[in-house]
Amino acid sequence: MISIEYPPEKNATQIWSHIRSAVGDSNHPFRLLTLSTSSKDAKPQSRIVVLREADDQNTLLMYTDSRSDKVSHIRENPSGCLQFWDPGRQLQVTIGCSLECITTGKQHEKHNAGIKGRGRALYTTKASPGENLGPSFQEPEHWDFDQVNYFALIRAEATEMTALQLHKDHHLRMRCRFNRGSWQGTWIVP
Ligand SMILES: Cc1cc2nc3c(=O)[nH]c(=O)nc-3n(C[C@H](O)[C@H](O)[C@H](O)COP(=O)(O)O)c2cc1C
Repeated sequence: MISIEYPPEKNATQIWSHIRSAVGDSNHPFRLLTLSTSSKDAKPQSRIVVLREADDQNTLLMYTDSRSDKVSHIRENPSGCLQFWDPGRQLQVTIGCSLECITTGKQHEKHNAGIKGRGRALYTTKASPGENLGPSFQEPEHWDFDQVNYFALIRAEATEMTALQLHKDHHLRMRCRFNRGSWQGTWIVP
């Protein structure tokens, strides 16, 4: 996917299009990504999330429960990192970003309204995600879907993209920053 025929800026734009094409496509390798955050005492934590929306500039959206650790981290420290891996293209993309949790407003309402059926159960447990359930297994109890809902959006505004393309002859690596509406960057040593 990364081509030496093009400058890093153009490659970054193509990689962003590849990220966008993953939205809603459960077979796309970029639909699942690793989101890394860190607490205020600088303890990092990574987890897989689903990519839910991507605009044509530098913003991505994910869904979560507003009581989860990642949301506490983001509130303490908005700097985050997203990582994608496409095994078919041998392409790793790392996005440095600023993260925000959205729990109210039009955008939140629109996405919340689109979550149907079992999907809603993810955001309605009575106990918070990560809470201790004790030694014997028990299904977590749920609030009435329509009454209580801890659905939150995570908005990532990408500031930096580093992409590594593995290749049998020569690996390619580039880094771009998003500045005034476009990607600008350079090739770097793999
Ligand atoms: C394939 C897969 C997809 C997942 N998608 C999401 C997701 O979209 N949002 C989410 O909050 N957690 C998702 N999870 C669960 C997280 O990886 C994580 O376990 C959970 O959100 C708790 O994270 P935290 O305690 O670090 O906040 C997914 C896990 C897997 C394995």
